[in-house]
Amino acid sequence: MAALMQKIISLAKRRGFVFQSSEIYGGFGSCYDFGPLGVEFKNNIKKSWWEEMTRKHENMVGLDSAILMSPRVWQASGHLTAGFADELVECKSCHKRFRLDEIANSKSEIQKCPECGGQLTKPRKFNLMMKTFVGPVEEKAATTYLRAETCQGIYVNFENILNSMRLKIPFGIAQIGKAFRNEITPKDFIYRTREFEQMEMQWFCHPKEASKWFNFWLKERMKWYLSLGIKKENLRTKEVPKSELPHYAKKAIDIEYKFPFGPAERGGWHEIEGIHNRGDWDLSNHSKNSGKDLKYFDEGTPSQSKLGSGQAKQKYFPYIIETSAGADRSLFAFLCDAYQEIKGGRTQTTKAVKEIEILLKLHKSLAPIKVAVLPLVRNEPKLVKKAKEVYQLLKPHFTCQYDELGSIGRRYRRQDEIGTPYAITIDFKTLKKDDVTIRDRDTMKQERVKIKNLTQILKEKLR
Ligand code: GAP
Repeated sequence: MAALMQKIISLAKRRGFVFQSSEIYGGFGSCYDFGPLGVEFKNNIKKSWWEEMTRKHENMVGLDSAILMSPRVWQASGHLTAGFADELVECKSCHKRFRLDEIANSKSEIQKCPECGGQLTKPRKFNLMMKTFVGPVEEKAATTYLRAETCQGIYVNFENILNSMRLKIPFGIAQIGKAFRNEITPKDFIYRTREFEQMEMQWFCHPKEASKWFNFWLKERMKWYLSLGIKKENLRTKEVPKSELPHYAKKAIDIEYKFPFGPAERGGWHEIEGIHNRGDWDLSNHSKNSGKDLKYFDEGTPSQSKLGSGQAKQKYFPYIIETSAGADRSLFAFLCDAYQEIKGGRTQTTKAVKEIEILLKLHKSLAPIKVAVLPLVRNEPKLVKKAKEVYQLLKPHFTCQYDELGSIGRRYRRQDEIGTPYAITIDFKTLKKDDVTIRDRDTMKQERVKIKNLTQILKEKLR
């Protein structure tokens, strides 16, 4: 498992997906930069999520709230108290630190350091909020926090959105943005980092309908991963036991992906998204702390939504069903799921090179580069000129890469390795007939099409 993980990490760096932050200074604790291919890939994931949540569903609006908020938000949400803390143990011999939940199923179970067998300290609570200061003076009054979850920006805007958009329950608010946590043991590449992106949706509904909506959203979220090509056998749901529920949740089910890392007994399963019934925790606490009445008044007008209706003439705190996915963790899962190695290569037409070929079978909509443009050879000026014209033709429509270095076979493999669905080859026939070949990444089949039809054909293929 560890070897496969190393190969994926190495590909991610070699091909410009993910770099260690501040690498020239020796790296900065568990922060990563998304390179030229990584940013396209992550943008595609976020776009897919946004379209899925805001266009497919009725009664859904978006938000982009500030990362910095009043510290009172975090007081009210419970994040500054013990609720948002991990339990940490330290080895008295090698001084390595571990999150208790990573090395034990229960507190009584573990007494020895998993690395050196040394004695462990008693568990200590460690709050995960990232402190910062606003204004010129570093004093208590100027202290605030980088948001630890994007959804708090949604709750504090509940009333603004309700009034400005004239919404009726049930409705949802979707948001994508950065979140920060001072993780004690960040590790496993981009799986657990201190700065990450969340794609969160908060669904406000009548308390009596919370359970129905919880099941609805869980199914919808599972479908999204599967529709983007995640293999069924690598995806599962797991209910969070009562004793491990986050401080705000009445019920939580994690969507887990089978990653190629982690202790054998976990079998690689790790959370990529949480579905939470947050009850009225957030709205009632913000009401109490801000003095604003955030109860919803249902006037009894039937909701326009086909999805369900509010309950008539009541004032109540809506319950919140949350879907909380990590953009970085999703990217990592899509990357692992798409990664394939083919021993001896896939080529049938030429003698097998006997080297391992890497194929990244990403869903077309997620692939960072959609089309590669390749002149058959580079020492033929007429071919190169024509290939550059084709590149300019396609560039406004698709993320394209022009490549003329090395043999054509090698260039196809370079594109397979980054998941490019289509490669356009400009050959000698092109000069006579004004047509090109389109090579399909997965089947390696080639078809000839006229250049004048190329953009439209690719648009259809990539739809
Ligand atoms: N608002 C609810 C919430 O934040 P969570 O289970 O703590 O719930 C939701 O986080 C998702 O955010 C996780 O499933 C994961 O995808 C992502 N996430 C959380 N902590 C992360 C970290 N340190 N690094 C990367 N992603 C993280």
